[in-house]
Amino acid sequence: MPNNLATNFTGLDFVNPFVLASAPPTESKRKILKAFESGWGGVVTKTIGLHPVENVAGPRTIFQRSSEDKPYVSRMKRADTVSHSSWNWELISDQPLELWLPDLEEIKTTYPDRMLIASIMAGAGNVEEMSNWRKLAVACVNAGCDALELNLSCPHMDRKDMGANIANDEDIIRSILQAVTSAVSVPIWVKLTPSTSTLVDAAAVAYASGAASISLCNTFPSIPLMDPETFKFEVEVDGYVTSGGQGGLAILNQALQRVSDISRAFPDKAISGIGGIKGFHEAFNFIVHGAGNLQVCTAAMEEKGSGGIGVRLIQELKDDMAEYLERKGFSSIEEFRGIARERIVEHSQIRRKSEAYNGGYEKTA
Ligand SMILES: Cc1cc2nc3c(=O)[nH]c(=O)nc-3n(C[C@H](O)[C@H](O)[C@H](O)COP(=O)(O)O)c2cc1C
Repeated sequence: MPNNLATNFTGLDFVNPFVLASAPPTESKRKILKAFESGWGGVVTKTIGLHPVENVAGPRTIFQRSSEDKPYVSRMKRADTVSHSSWNWELISDQPLELWLPDLEEIKTTYPDRMLIASIMAGAGNVEEMSNWRKLAVACVNAGCDALELNLSCPHMDRKDMGANIANDEDIIRSILQAVTSAVSVPIWVKLTPSTSTLVDAAAVAYASGAASISLCNTFPSIPLMDPETFKFEVEVDGYVTSGGQGGLAILNQALQRVSDISRAFPDKAISGIGGIKGFHEAFNFIVHGAGNLQVCTAAMEEKGSGGIGVRLIQELKDDMAEYLERKGFSSIEEFRGIARERIVEHSQIRRKSEAYNGGYEKTA
């Protein structure tokens, strides 16, 4: 029987379109091997860099839940809650490049049919940092990685020349892509931040500078909640907190809007959808807006008893998508990818009850 789940994305053959996003589920060789054994079509490694990394002296991630009874959002344990979101202020991988390289090689040799994408990050604004991008790119590709994802989107970097701090800067995007594409020939995915009003411009520069795909979304900048009784933030260090990143179901609609914006502006370009995918319904929604590849983080981390890599989740995603394709008579996700594009229009184009309405303007004639 043909594998209807198989996709070609940015020139790479995926056995299925479901990929673990760059985050704790892909932070080690052990987890990635287990993820492939469980059936994930690909992984994007936890972001690898060359600069010093030291995480905050407290929890890096919390999972927030809500309940029907008292539907406030909190990490605190209550009966009958459902997942709302993750919140994290974790930095990139603290495993040095030299230790990643043999791991990447072993992973690729063990699972040659799965797509191994290295997420990399360096700084900007000088020759040394451009050479760091090149060094990371060449090393990961030589270790066997099928593609690279450039992290231009972490919302809580210490350094001002990294992550979301530089995502608006078209010259920097251009120079990083120039550095990386001149050094390696694998597909380059660029992960942009959703928290900018110039996302479409940033994507335009990235595609024009050689990006094979845009990955959207990284987590949304956000502040954790304060407990009304104790006046403590639900996560803090010495009473202090800073803006971190929200992921999970709570960001689904916003992530879809960002993917839709890019996908309508560049319908012929590839886009990898991320943000709140928990099952078939969310994956379906990213695909109809144009995503040809789906990345998952929070839902995999939240799964109990499987080491935070979504062992049951990937089985469910594959089963439910395969069942849907068969029931609808689709030979692959390509047959319904992007079908929502033409139905997203300007607010002024949505029909009103009165025909006299002129998009908010007085009628002139
Ligand atoms: C704890 C944690 C760590 C993360 N670390 C990274 C990272 O190193 N690099 C990166 O590009 N994204 C990172 N992300 C963002 C995820 O890859 C993903 O874009 C985001 O969580 C949205 O997907 P989700 O709603 O499925 O969680 C991290 C997310 C979490 C929750």
